[in-house]
Amino acid sequence: MKTYEIAVIPGDGIGPEVIVEAVKVLKAVSAADGRFDMHFTEFPWGCEYYLKTGQMMPDNGIEVLSKYDAILLGAVGYPGVPDHISLRELLLRIRHEFDQYINLRPVKLLDGAPCPLAGINREDIDMIFIRENSEGEYAGSGAWLYKDQPEEVVIQNSVFSRKGCERVIRYAFELAKREGRSLTSVSKANALNYSMVFWDQIFEEVSREYPEVETRHLLVDAAAMFMVRDPKRFDVVVTSNLFGDILTDLGAAISGGMGLAAGANINPERRYPSMFEAIHGSAPDIAGRNIANPLASIWTAGQMLDFFGYKEWGTRIVDSIEQMLVGKKALTPDLGGTASTGECGDEMVRILQSAGK
Ligand code: NAD
Ligand code: IPM
Ligand code: MN
Repeated sequence: MKTYEIAVIPGDGIGPEVIVEAVKVLKAVSAADGRFDMHFTEFPWGCEYYLKTGQMMPDNGIEVLSKYDAILLGAVGYPGVPDHISLRELLLRIRHEFDQYINLRPVKLLDGAPCPLAGINREDIDMIFIRENSEGEYAGSGAWLYKDQPEEVVIQNSVFSRKGCERVIRYAFELAKREGRSLTSVSKANALNYSMVFWDQIFEEVSREYPEVETRHLLVDAAAMFMVRDPKRFDVVVTSNLFGDILTDLGAAISGGMGLAAGANINPERRYPSMFEAIHGSAPDIAGRNIANPLASIWTAGQMLDFFGYKEWGTRIVDSIEQMLVGKKALTPDLGGTASTGECGDEMVRILQSAGK
């Protein structure tokens, strides 16, 4: 029997609360399936660890993680540690060092999920965002000059490499081709006269290899507007690191909220472990109250099962989430329910187990 070694980084705030439920679901799935097993090793890295040790993870953290088949992460960041330290030294470091250059974020409205838009049906919101996840605006390059002086200057460079743009755009074309769906490139060449002109040029170049894929282009400001006014025009979407970050929070808002928004950081070549983490953060405003919605992390665990090749389980997890939303059973307060995080996870396990019988 295949055993998957999973590194678990619960992290900060609601991270540990929701990740327990994702692990619970993965254990139930592997027990029900019988073809594979999962072994979980927890790492206590994050802001508390930083306050004790001065580091977000130990020096050999990346080397330790490199031995695992995948990483499951709750959330990182908490008041008391500056966000640019906590996130750069843990989450973004893992994404970069493991070359997880694809950030796969489904924006899909399920039946029963609250949608703030008028006149929208389930089938109108069904997008998959491919966010560039290794460079762009997140390259972390720049300088801070003349600190605290009147001449003070900061420079934050974006880095767009040919290799970096080509690989994410090609990945998006492959997905659109496989699924027979259109591909929208979101950029901003009218203002960003180097990076986004280059992005658009590479999109054009790669598109010639995929004549069967219908392509569209949108400027990011218009894309934000159309996601609200006419979301059905989007199928597969490919965009830069920062635009993808912002648009997928908007995507979460129109498809049930942060508590339902899943994401996966993928190294497609499987040279390094991929990392599975929901889109939301550590939600300090509700942390410690056992009311965080674990369904985003559970959906993310479903993406892990997809990635390992058990697509039927990935689909079953999304179907089961939909069943809970429709039945309004064991939902957390963000979805109008009164259930605790643990009760929501337990119900999910119950549905998955009964579907198997
Ligand atoms: P956030 O996503 O943590 O919270 C935004 C809002 O959504 C809050 O009102 C919160 O209560 C709600 N929310 C989020 N997840 C929820 C869930 N599962 N169930 C119910 N409600 C939920 O964003 P923020 O407040 O901007 O960031 C908080 C911290 O998290 C910051 O330190 C930020 O840098 C960090 N962050 C980390 C990640 C990550 O680790 N992947 C992602 C985003 C933000
Ligand atoms: C996300 C988060 C991160 C990002 C932050 C916490 C660095 O917002 O995963 O969407 O911007 O990528
Ligand atoms: Mn984000």
